[in-house]
Amino acid sequence: MKTYRAAVIGCSRMGAFIDSEVPDYQAIRLPYSHAAGFYAEERTDLVACSDLRPEVMEVFGERYNVPKERQYTDYRELIDKENLDIVSVATQPEHRADVVIYAVEHGVKAIYAEKAMAASMDEADAMVEAVERNGAFFNLGTNRRWHTGFDKMKEVIDSGELGALKTLIIYGNHSLFNGSSHQFDLILRLNSDRRALWASAHITDDDSIFDGDIVREDPNGQGLIQFENGVTAHALLSPRGAEWEAICDRGTVTCWNNGWQWHIRRQADVPGWRNCFVPEAFPEFERASSTANLIKDLVHSLDTGEPSRCGVRVAHASTELIFAFMESHLQSGARVQLPLKGSKLRLERDRAPRQPRFQ
Ligand SMILES: NC(=O)c1ccc[n+]([C@@H]2O[C@H](COP(=O)([O-])OP(=O)(O)OC[C@H]3O[C@@H](n4cnc5c(N)ncnc54)[C@H](O)[C@@H]3O)[C@@H](O)[C@H]2O)c1
Repeated sequence: MKTYRAAVIGCSRMGAFIDSEVPDYQAIRLPYSHAAGFYAEERTDLVACSDLRPEVMEVFGERYNVPKERQYTDYRELIDKENLDIVSVATQPEHRADVVIYAVEHGVKAIYAEKAMAASMDEADAMVEAVERNGAFFNLGTNRRWHTGFDKMKEVIDSGELGALKTLIIYGNHSLFNGSSHQFDLILRLNSDRRALWASAHITDDDSIFDGDIVREDPNGQGLIQFENGVTAHALLSPRGAEWEAICDRGTVTCWNNGWQWHIRRQADVPGWRNCFVPEAFPEFERASSTANLIKDLVHSLDTGEPSRCGVRVAHASTELIFAFMESHLQSGARVQLPLKGSKLRLERDRAPRQPRFQ
C-alpha cells in the first residue's frame, strides 16, 4: 500500500512535543502532536519539517529522524522541494492562511491545519476558496471530532432514545481562538453540523484589546448560538472547565473532565416526581488517539477520494462563530446573523512562540 509523504510546519508544542506535557493525562491518548501522529502511522512517512527556529528543528530531527538537509526555515522551499502529500500547519493562527494556501496551490493534496483556522474571516474565506479550487482535503485540529468518546456521545444523541436534542452546553468556553475553536467545532459535530442562524455574545476582557479592527489578545467570551434545527447552544465562562452537556427531550449526556468520563441521565417514571432523571451507564467505547484518527481520516481520503470528516467548510463554520462572538460583543450583545458578512477583525498578538518541553 502507498505511503504518503508528510511534513510538519511549526515544530513547537502541537507540531511536535506536546506529548511530553500529557504523559499521564487520562483524557488524552497518545500520539498527540502532529509529528508523533505521522511517526506512528504506518501509512505516512514524516520526511521533512519547517520552523523559524533551527534549534527547535534540530531536536525535532533527532526525535523523528528528519535529517538536517530536510529541516527548512522557509516553508515555501520545503513545499517546493519535498513533493509532499500531507502538510501539517501547526503554527499560530496568525501564520496559518498563507502557509495553507501556498501548500494547496503547489500540489499538496491533504492539509492538517491546527485550530483556530485563521486570524480573520477574509483569510478563512481565502482558505476555503484555495482548498476547494485545488481539490485538496482538509482537517482542522479540533481533536474531539475524531475522539471515540465523542463519537459515542453523538451516537447516543442520534439514536433518538433520549428524545430530540434541544440544548448544548459548553461549560468552560474561555478564549475564543484557542479554546472556543475546539468548543464550537464540538457542538457543531454533536448537532450534525447543522447551520447556525445567529449568535449573541459578551467578551469579558477590557475593550482595549480591540484596537480598531485589530484584536490584540485572544478574547474570553460567553454567549448563545441558535441553530436552524431549533437547538440552542450556551457557551458558559464557568470554572467547570472542559465539560459539555447535550440535553434532549427525555435525558442528558454529559462529558466530564475533558473526555475522561461520560454520564447519561434518563427521564424515569418515579412516583411523586414530575421530572426525575436517573443515571445510567454510558456505553463502552475503545479509547484511541484522536490525532491518529484524524491522520487516518486524511489517508482514507487520499486513498479513496472521499471527503474527510471535517473538511474546509466545517472548519469555516466554527471559525465564523468565533468572529460572530466578537462582532456581537462590539454591538452590545446584538444577535449577529450567520453567514457572517463584512467582518474585518483580525487577530494580531504580540507574542513569542512557546518553548516546547522536549522531555
Ligand atoms: N489541538 C490541540 O489540542 C492543540 C493543543 C495545543 C496547541 N494547539 C494549537 O496549535 C498551534 C500551535 O500551538 P503551539 O503551542 O505549538 O505554538 P507555538 O507558538 O509554541 O509554536 C508555533 C511554532 O510555529 C513556528 N512558526 C511561526 N511562523 C512560522 C513560519 N512562517 N514557518 C514555519 N514555522 C513558523 C514558530 O517558530 C513556533 O515554533 C496553535 O494554533 C494552537 O492553538 C492545538
